[in-house]
Amino acid sequence: MANKILVTSASGNIGKPLVAELKALGADFDIMSSKPQSIANVRVADFNDVASLKKAFAGIDTLFLLFPLVENKVQLAKNAAEAAVAAGVKHIVRSSGAGADANAAFALPKLQGQIDELLKATGIPTTFLRPGGFMQNYLTYHSQAIKDGTIYMADGGKAQALIDTRDIAAIAARVLTNPGAHAGKAYMLTGGADFTGNEAAEIISKALGKTVSHASVSTEAAVATMKGWQLPAWLIDLMDSLNQIVSAGYATGVSPDVENILGRKPRTFAAFVNDNVAAWK
Ligand SMILES: NC(=O)c1ccc[n+]([C@@H]2O[C@H](COP(=O)([O-])OP(=O)(O)OC[C@H]3O[C@@H](n4cnc5c(N)ncnc54)[C@H](OP(=O)(O)O)[C@@H]3O)[C@@H](O)[C@H]2O)c1
Repeated sequence: MANKILVTSASGNIGKPLVAELKALGADFDIMSSKPQSIANVRVADFNDVASLKKAFAGIDTLFLLFPLVENKVQLAKNAAEAAVAAGVKHIVRSSGAGADANAAFALPKLQGQIDELLKATGIPTTFLRPGGFMQNYLTYHSQAIKDGTIYMADGGKAQALIDTRDIAAIAARVLTNPGAHAGKAYMLTGGADFTGNEAAEIISKALGKTVSHASVSTEAAVATMKGWQLPAWLIDLMDSLNQIVSAGYATGVSPDVENILGRKPRTFAAFVNDNVAAWK
């Protein structure tokens, strides 16, 4: 049966390896970008512009939806939901977040849950991928700290089973190419082992051949730092909710879903570090 796939946010931490996975599987897919591109299978569209999304989603059977972390993220999701229904999309694979729940007490899982609910309400069969923290945050957010020698985190010293986004991509590719088997399902995606920031710093130190330390700071200190960086209030609120979740130990725990779906162990943090040593030198 024909299964034309569209990957939104294809240039991101999950999207890039997802494109590689789909290529390797020989899937029939296009990618979406908000920026004009010179590659053949790109559909240019913006989550802020419903008309552009309707065009981009035309003829798509299975849609991978990942929204950037922006202030109007719920509106972007509403736009995508409207366009998916109008275009007759048959299945949505939504990259959400751990603990997504519209009734959650914490801001970030509440936001993710609200978006999951409005996509469910389209009536289009959906699959929710709910990853915990990304190993790639050590590249995106902590590269300078690693170079400087100390990684500061408001984590209460608690462990997390961070996941490599390449594993999220591998799962997404399996679901996108066989959507019927995953309709109505939600997967909690974590790495294979919990580890603390101290343990992560030891692994990085060993790989780099120099000492990199980890320092836990209070959630209040993290808010003060983010204010000092002049981050917008909505982003500080979301990040603070995440820090509170991690500091309370709610982000500790390993889910079996990655291994169950891929039939192999998730990538380890040590392997991730070895693959990325050059980025921290
Ligand atoms: N970091 C974590 O630990 C973590 C954990 C769980 C969940 N998450 C969630 O994962 C998501 C981030 O995933 P990621 O790291 O893979 O993303 P990312 O690397 O931040 O990439 C964001 C993507 O959004 C696209 N984009 C930006 N503005 C757009 C617009 N107006 N219209 C259409 N596309 C637009 C960009 O593509 P173009 O520039 O090509 O348009 C880009 O590919 C967030 O929603 C976050 O809440 C993160």
